[in-house]
Amino acid sequence: MVTSIHQVEDWGYLEVDERGVLMDVSPDFCEHFSINKEDCLGGSIHDIIHGMYGRKRKKVFFGVITKINCIIRVTKKGNRDIYRVIVRDGDIEHYEMVSFMHAIDLQKMNKKKPHQNKYSFDEIIGNSEAMNNAKELATRIATSNSTVLLTGESGTGKELFAQAIHGMSPRKNNPFIAVNCAAIPGELFESELFGYEPGAFSGAKKEGKPGKVELAMNGTLFLDEISELPYEAQGKLLRVLQEKEVERVGGTVSKHIDVRIIAATNRDLGQLVEEGKFRQDLFYRLFVFDLLIPSLRERIDDILPLAFYFIDYFNVKFDHEVKHIDARLQDWMLNYDWPGNVRELKAVIERGMNIVDGDTLSMNDIYFSTQVSTNSPNRKTVPLQSLEDEVRNAEINAIQRALQESNGDRTLAAQKLKIHIASLYRKIAKYNLK
Ligand SMILES: Nc1ncnc2c1ncn2[C@@H]1O[C@H](COP(=O)(O)OP(=O)(O)O)[C@@H](O)[C@H]1O
Ligand SMILES: [Mg+2]
Repeated sequence: MVTSIHQVEDWGYLEVDERGVLMDVSPDFCEHFSINKEDCLGGSIHDIIHGMYGRKRKKVFFGVITKINCIIRVTKKGNRDIYRVIVRDGDIEHYEMVSFMHAIDLQKMNKKKPHQNKYSFDEIIGNSEAMNNAKELATRIATSNSTVLLTGESGTGKELFAQAIHGMSPRKNNPFIAVNCAAIPGELFESELFGYEPGAFSGAKKEGKPGKVELAMNGTLFLDEISELPYEAQGKLLRVLQEKEVERVGGTVSKHIDVRIIAATNRDLGQLVEEGKFRQDLFYRLFVFDLLIPSLRERIDDILPLAFYFIDYFNVKFDHEVKHIDARLQDWMLNYDWPGNVRELKAVIERGMNIVDGDTLSMNDIYFSTQVSTNSPNRKTVPLQSLEDEVRNAEINAIQRALQESNGDRTLAAQKLKIHIASLYRKIAKYNLK
């Protein structure tokens, strides 16, 4: 049963109406915080939870309850809000979290010296509300030692967040080791993660090899695409995380390990648990903090700043001086739904920057690249233009394809297009094609 994932190992809850008036308090909440239910019903939520710093509409936030620092998750129940305490400071055994105040102090310190970290949240572009919320929560999570589960569609920046969290953590001077769980075949999982001793199996290196867990010692182990871990491997990983000890394949001694785990997934792990594809115990182990990175279409305000950021990046790389994005391309970018998120945006800009001539990136630079071609399913989201433009674009597209397919041989291209070579030359000149 995973219907109650949010209730695992929590510290009770408060039920509050729209005005913030306390309507119910769970018995375990009263017990854990030594509160008398009758005394607080009808009172304000702010009398119980203090320092709800910058809460706004966040689902998970920090607060202080009877002088205890807590992390609280809010969920909706009809028109009521349920405030559930999911982490209580002092609960070191489970979460090893540092206090709320410490987190805020560190955050302030990091603001003063932003260049000290190799990776920081400054490198994560985007000032939309959704992104700022994610960054703020990540900043606070960073200072703790807790396991973090990053969820979000592919290309939203999960790995970037993982690096930034590491870069803001007290572990920042120790290794950040990334493992793509989808890329390791089941039978190699153990030797990749835990390492092996000399002669552990045929084909193994003579001198043995340390595993990723060992390499991440005192640092952070980033387990990307965690949902793709084979079921058996999940159990082995869980054991290592629980016992905080790792033994190399073929070895006899186990080593104490101190690593922080950040896992990422673009799938609904809770759902996979229900389907029996992901181990519930490992899920709970990872699900201490879940941080959702919003898709690009949910933060349209970030699209142009990101586009200009990538333009600057490729300006340096390709030695270009692009400064503008023409209005039509801006319009298209803002209306497109970006199924591949920031990764796709970066690729589109890269393609355009390969083709662009001059200081303005325009629709033609990206529209006629080989990947966003007319038969791409994404094509339908490009706004319809005047017939004249549509015809012109179709003509340019056909000519570019013909030239590509004939390796630039114009005679051959003209034959493919069943037009006269002179006509092809005229069109190439007219459209300024290369
Ligand atoms: N907010 C952002 N600011 C700058 N670059 C970003 C941002 N989000 C993603 N990227 C870039 O987009 C690409 C995909 O990001 P990545 O973290 O690998 O996504 P995911 O792990 O979610 O698939 C990377 O090149 C990354 O640097
Ligand atoms: Mg990734």
